Amino acid sequence: MKAFISYSAVALLSLTPQDVFAFPSHLSEALIQIRTHNEARAAVEERSSSEAPPECPFSKQKRQLAGVTPPFDAKSQYVSNTGAHKFVPPSGSDQRGPCPGLNAMANHGYMPHSGVGSITDFITGTQEAFGMGVDLATFLAIYGAIFDGDLTKYSIGGPYPSLLNLGGLLGSPQGLSGSHNKYEGDVSPTRGDLYQYGNDYLLQPSQFKALYELGRANGDSVDLSVLTAYRATRFQESVSENPYFFNAPFSGVIASPAAWSFIYRFMGNKSAEHPMGLLDGETLKAFYSVTGDYPNFKYTPGHETFPDNWYKRNAVDYYSIPYLAEDALAMALEHPEFLSVGGNTGTTNSFTGVDLEMLTGGVFNAKNLLEVNNLICFGLEASLQEAPDILSGLYQDIDPAKDKLGAAVSSATNGLGCPVLGSISQSQFSKYPGFTKLKSNGQY
Ligand code: HEM
Ligand SMILES: *[C@@H]1O[C@H](CO)[C@@H](O)[C@H](O)[C@H]1NC(C)=O
Repeated sequence: MKAFISYSAVALLSLTPQDVFAFPSHLSEALIQIRTHNEARAAVEERSSSEAPPECPFSKQKRQLAGVTPPFDAKSQYVSNTGAHKFVPPSGSDQRGPCPGLNAMANHGYMPHSGVGSITDFITGTQEAFGMGVDLATFLAIYGAIFDGDLTKYSIGGPYPSLLNLGGLLGSPQGLSGSHNKYEGDVSPTRGDLYQYGNDYLLQPSQFKALYELGRANGDSVDLSVLTAYRATRFQESVSENPYFFNAPFSGVIASPAAWSFIYRFMGNKSAEHPMGLLDGETLKAFYSVTGDYPNFKYTPGHETFPDNWYKRNAVDYYSIPYLAEDALAMALEHPEFLSVGGNTGTTNSFTGVDLEMLTGGVFNAKNLLEVNNLICFGLEASLQEAPDILSGLYQDIDPAKDKLGAAVSSATNGLGCPVLGSISQSQFSKYPGFTKLKSNGQY
């Protein structure tokens, strides 16, 4: 773990509890969850290794102090899985892919059962089924339509033939499963790295089991502390096992933290007792299409479900871009390597980070990336600067796609106070085969 942290982890980790309260409320809540867990675990380890972790005496009180407990309203937060929303497994040409949330939505009629949806389908469906903020849903939906679809719709799984080809596509849109390092990335929670497993959309049983076990050891609760710790393990696995590991500006700095935080933020079951959500092992299994009793799990690809009697986020607490920015930052403060854009250079354990200042012409650096909204600003703005290169492999004329992305990035960054990133120096990426492979065939 040496070469890729180009800045001082020690300085970052010296925050005191007082500093925590200087952060915006969501961030303090996330940090508290991660920190109090670490404190509790350290205390347990001191006493004895066999006892179960105690209920942390601070967390609840601190969260109330930070004023972040959302209200709970059973009627509006209940998510139906019966009637019009009963589970129907995919069949025939139905598409399912790397995203368990979208797979479950398609199986339960919260988006088209075919797994191919329009931008609007993704925006309305993610609000209705999970309580995703319209800002975040809009950006994720448009990004998918541009890079993995035909500018208006896209598949949550593999390729589908575009009938009208209005966007001037050079080939069939590849869908989310074929979006490696554009959308889909390495270091996924349960999906394997593409160049390690040959696919990036199936659940790897060993990874699911490891996550489940961490939740079990945490009192049957998969929370941000568990997810942050396991993300660090997965990051190290990619460094030491995937010679083509690439932590890209968008898929690594935005899509990856989203994939990790979404597990707790969306899948957690909200209730009066746990208005922030509680994600136990059974609920995790349902959303990940895993059946059977531990340790004899069985995974059925594409059969993700909404469990019975499950409650989503409250309408006043939808998960927005600023909220994601705070969670991503909280995770990165614990593990600065998450923000290290770069990768292995063709062999395992060869991780080299790019120099952010050189990449961004001095606009971002390792230190200011951790200030205010810079992390999310960098990921969003870099996606726009990287776009022409990737889009030229997809469209005859890249301008409509580029304009659409430009508009989406500017509305997503609107109000975040982002510094202006005019260009990025792509040559910084030439030493990473994970990146050059992406360029060479346009798809993977
Ligand atoms: C427009 C909306 C969405 C889009 C375009 C989208 C897309 C994606 C993509 C491309 C990935 C793969 C990222 C990776 O390589 O790790 C992913 C992963 C993931 N998504 Fe979504 N997603 C959306 C909404 C949601 C929602 C509402 C949930 C709610 C639970 C969700 C939960 C997840 C999780 C947990 C993962 C990580 C899967 C794993 O490796 O275990 N997503 N999503
Ligand atoms: C969600 O929480 C409520 C209240 O505790 C509980 O009745 C319900 O069974 C839970 N749902 C799931 C899927 O765990």
